[in-house]
Amino acid sequence: MELADLRPDFGKYTFNPQLTPEHPDQLFSIWLQKASDAQLSEFNAMVLSTVNSQNKPSSRIVLLKSVENNRLVFFTHYESRKGKDLAANPNASLLFFWKELERQVRIEGLVEKIPFSQTHQYFKSRPFESQLSAIASPQSEPIDGIETITRRRDDILKAGIPIECPSNWGGYALTPTYYEFWQGGRNRLHNRLSYHLNKNMWNKQQLAP
Ligand SMILES: Cc1cc2nc3c(=O)[nH]c(=O)nc-3n(C[C@H](O)[C@H](O)[C@H](O)COP(=O)(O)O)c2cc1C
Repeated sequence: MELADLRPDFGKYTFNPQLTPEHPDQLFSIWLQKASDAQLSEFNAMVLSTVNSQNKPSSRIVLLKSVENNRLVFFTHYESRKGKDLAANPNASLLFFWKELERQVRIEGLVEKIPFSQTHQYFKSRPFESQLSAIASPQSEPIDGIETITRRRDDILKAGIPIECPSNWGGYALTPTYYEFWQGGRNRLHNRLSYHLNKNMWNKQQLAP
């Protein structure tokens, strides 16, 4: 494998930054719908990057579960590594890569917990097995083996503990202050369009590839 020789070219699709909405959430919604229509697998998977109390960044994938009032909602353990990062620093970024559409979207903003009632409602809609795992797994904590968690699941079931949404699990919503839309172009002449929120106004700006 010669990584240095891999040179995918782009440019299958056209994108005219001049013909874009004034509000980035509209463009995001159009692109998200397109990814859904194209039946891309895991098109709602996004890289979430956080920064810890020592200013060290880390990234992982989470699933976008809804967009409400232009806020992007995902669910996780509040005491996980990302949860601790977000408690120390609510700044975060999200990244989507839709390879087949030659598109990337970057979104940055502030994250806050959603109300427990909304978390509770979503938790109830999850499959039973996922509910059980959320309760049994202290996400991001060291374990001796996955059996530790399967044993905990069995113990919870045997003890007849009610399967309810734990207080250390739930949703976060990111309110965007920055978006960047990237459409791959030929010869590395990609189209990049950024939207920056300034005093409640979105400033649209093309960026060099
Ligand atoms: C496709 C995919 C989807 C995932 N979705 C989620 C998710 O929605 N919520 C979540 O907590 N972890 C999800 N994960 C697992 C995370 O990437 C990560 O391993 C976990 O959240 C622990 O991260 P942390 O230790 O940085 O907190 C997903 C992983 C993959 C590969």
